Amino acid sequence: MYLAHCLLLLLAGLLVLSQGQLHPELHGQRHTHRPHQEAPGTAEGSPSLKVTAGNTAFALRFYHLLASQPYGDNIFFSPLSISSAYAMLSLGVRAHSQTQILEGLGFNLTEVSESDIHRGFRNLLHALHLPGDRLEIRVGSALFLRPELPLLPSFLNDSATFYESKLFRMGFEDTVGTSKFINDHVRAETRGKIVDLVSTLSPDTVMVLVNFMYFKALWEKPFIPSMTALHDFYVDEGTTVKVPMMLQDTQHHWYFHDRYLPCSVLRMDYKGNATALFILPNRGKMEQVEEVLTPEMITRWNKLLRKRYFYRKLKLYIPKFSISGSYKLDQILPRLGITDLFSQRADLSGITEQLNLQVSKSFHKAILEVDEVGTQAAVATGGFVTFWSRHNHEVLRFNRPFLVGIFSTNTQSILFLGKVVNPTKP
Ligand SMILES: *[C@@H]1O[C@H](CO)[C@@H](O)[C@H](O)[C@H]1NC(C)=O
Ligand SMILES: *[C@@H]1O[C@H](CO)[C@@H](O)[C@H](O)[C@H]1NC(C)=O
Ligand SMILES: *[C@@H]1O[C@H](CO)[C@@H](O)[C@H](O)[C@H]1NC(C)=O
Repeated sequence: MYLAHCLLLLLAGLLVLSQGQLHPELHGQRHTHRPHQEAPGTAEGSPSLKVTAGNTAFALRFYHLLASQPYGDNIFFSPLSISSAYAMLSLGVRAHSQTQILEGLGFNLTEVSESDIHRGFRNLLHALHLPGDRLEIRVGSALFLRPELPLLPSFLNDSATFYESKLFRMGFEDTVGTSKFINDHVRAETRGKIVDLVSTLSPDTVMVLVNFMYFKALWEKPFIPSMTALHDFYVDEGTTVKVPMMLQDTQHHWYFHDRYLPCSVLRMDYKGNATALFILPNRGKMEQVEEVLTPEMITRWNKLLRKRYFYRKLKLYIPKFSISGSYKLDQILPRLGITDLFSQRADLSGITEQLNLQVSKSFHKAILEVDEVGTQAAVATGGFVTFWSRHNHEVLRFNRPFLVGIFSTNTQSILFLGKVVNPTKP
């Protein structure tokens, strides 16, 4: 008789922009004792750059899949959290199921080998955690499994070595207690931002994998809170909502109106090695801009936004908001070619030889908060009215749906990606 045992994957990505100080007690504390065998993610030829192209391709494929849904919801997710969790899982997956995962994650296996991928992620996660940066980024994984389930030593070793995964043994008979334990862990790791990630655990679950990402950063050029005021935000033809709109009118920023596409693009830097890209399609042109949202376009925008020419004074309106995205990856990833893992064909014999494991459910949740001082998790909204004027003082008004990407600059990674359709919908 075929007996499937459930493996649950939970991924939480969080980006917050928030009041006040970073947490100094945490800052740069993790990983200080890690051996520095490899150059950090910034260096030319560093291993993390081998996973950059695959990760970016995956981020955009995933985005397009979500955006192709008929309803105009907000989108917000952490591609890096999803990629690193599944790359870690691939350590325990054999045969064709493994190739499927790595290719589904955007890697071309003739160009980058499996070991390059794991070394790339180790280097990338390490670079994100380097002490000295003025950001707070925490990325991590945890495995929760039954006490009697024997894991292969190689999987235990590799998941800890490359992905810094933590291991917890626990019974799943008490589904309520176990859910609470997992939720408490995620809540603690995301500083209280992601609560109740898992609601119901089925009693036949034998293993749960959680991945989370927490990002908190301060704007290089913060907004002045007293200038924030309620303004209209045009969700669509028939819907207008009121949002607290932040305003800056004396700062310089990198931005431009695309000559070839109906959109404006703004770069907002954080203190530290991260930056946000806000893309504001002209009214009614969201789909047209989404269609050309490719790795090449993002590279092009990033290049243009380094040119001194586009650094100009700007009157900037951006909503203060918080949005979230929740996704059932077990339903989404098969559409990117990762099918075996969620079926009876799954070969997870690299995790344990004792049971017929199959991934039953996989969730991803990401939250973004943007305010005057910074971002916790990340996304921004776009609506834009522009005036060209002689005195070179333009207005950029994010008062209609917009796209937002948050990038780690030294690792060239997309930490978060999203679309803000309605900033009042949490
Ligand atoms: C993978 O890379 C090889 C060599 O660069 C290339 O010929 C091939 O077309 C690529 N495959 C895909 C699916 O992009
Ligand atoms: C960026 O990261 C590097 C290490 O990769 C660090 O030395 C530097 O201080 C960081 N820059 C800022 C502005 O935090
Ligand atoms: C763990 O993995 C590392 C890297 O692959 C290897 O060097 C080390 O020998 C392994 N340790 C054990 C106990 O298997």
